[in-house]
Amino acid sequence: MEAPVSKRSHWGSRIGFILAAAGSAVGLGNIWKFPYVTGENGGGIFVLIYLACVLLVGLPVMIAEILIGRSTQNSPVGAFKSLAGPRSPWVGMGWLSVLSSFVLLSFYSVVAGWSLHYAWLSISGQLAGLGPDNVAPLFGSLHASAGANLFWHLVFMGLTIAVIYGGVSKGVERWSRILMPALLIMMLVLLINSLTLDGFGKAFQFLFGFHQDKFTAGGALEALGQAFFSLSLGMGAMLTYGSYLRRRDDVVGASVTISALDTCIALVASLMLFPIIFSYGMEPAAGPGLVFISVPIALSQMPGTTFLATLFFGLLVFAALTSAISMLEVATSYFIDQRGWKRHRAAVAAGLAIAVLGLPAALSGGTGLFGSGMEGLVGKNWFDSLDYLVTNWMLPLGGLGIALFTAWRMDRRLRQEEFLSGSRLRLFYQGWVFLLKFPVPVAILLVFLHAVGLL
Ligand code: TRP
Repeated sequence: MEAPVSKRSHWGSRIGFILAAAGSAVGLGNIWKFPYVTGENGGGIFVLIYLACVLLVGLPVMIAEILIGRSTQNSPVGAFKSLAGPRSPWVGMGWLSVLSSFVLLSFYSVVAGWSLHYAWLSISGQLAGLGPDNVAPLFGSLHASAGANLFWHLVFMGLTIAVIYGGVSKGVERWSRILMPALLIMMLVLLINSLTLDGFGKAFQFLFGFHQDKFTAGGALEALGQAFFSLSLGMGAMLTYGSYLRRRDDVVGASVTISALDTCIALVASLMLFPIIFSYGMEPAAGPGLVFISVPIALSQMPGTTFLATLFFGLLVFAALTSAISMLEVATSYFIDQRGWKRHRAAVAAGLAIAVLGLPAALSGGTGLFGSGMEGLVGKNWFDSLDYLVTNWMLPLGGLGIALFTAWRMDRRLRQEEFLSGSRLRLFYQGWVFLLKFPVPVAILLVFLHAVGLL
């Protein structure tokens, strides 16, 4: 049973939608992943390639997603049903979105849980008292602890469910309006602090200087994958948020704003982190441990540890929460739009199912079956396997589907009308369609070939 379109919830304001969509985009991907991937790839040219990927691949796909959502006023499965016909294979793209949202949130919530754990250590003053030697092993013991992982994962899922339970304007929009400005302010304070550190010049040089020796083709493809992940593409999240827009709302302008915000925040996050890293003699290429190991060690040596660490991990939690709600909204809206469930039931059922699916991810750092057991069997624990599957396969496949559908299958008149109803710039329209027809699919295919080791 399809819910009648006239009853569909909508955003209360234009800025509400922008903040919610930017909240989806700005997440652990910006503050945790972007800095460490940039660090591993040597900074400089990686950043430049990343910017090109956002502009030439990410932005066109984001416009396509939001546009399809707004046009159909439906979540992914319903959107493809209404544009391609209920029995079309394209509906599979909608299913893929729902599946990806379940899988992605199930382990994203575990990392968000680590952030909550550190936020708690910071705010309760524990981090300040420990000193660098005792901070270093904290992450190792957290990672291996079943109890702590399960506890914080479930707390975080509870928070996510609570927001989605409230609905589009009273849940997602209301919380985005609080959390996003708070996030920007916290980040600014931390950036100002980093500006005063000795390592700032070195960090700036590292991020924006050219180091040609570090450039690799693999790095370029990683930049593309990262752009996709960071902009929340390929999973119907932007499509779903777009479906709560009214027909007259501007899709193109909003997409540009959201992409720009997301990119600026990833850059500012790096500008705030690397001076801390360099000033305290840490390695910029520390990998995933950058935020959870190197940063706490550095922060524990700075004056005002409790204040700075609380700001930093609070920031991480806020960023993760506004992203997680967009993932749960994809799952929830499926049950509302396709099954006719009430929001409260849909939010709780989908959220609990994801929380349960996340249990093995929470146990992945331990020595049990889902941790070192699986590592021994297939080379990757449960968490890493899902991360690999979603980031390298499901999201790019979803993005490829959206691009091909919009460029080759969608009704041309409808597509043009929808695009131009927001922006009158015909030149951009043609450029957009061209990008979606050839360069975007080719770029995504290259990422696949890289993922299977053929490139
Ligand atoms: N963009 C988020 C981040 O940077 C992650 C995310 C949220 C996401 N929703 C998504 C990724 C949907 C892909 C699809 O952390």
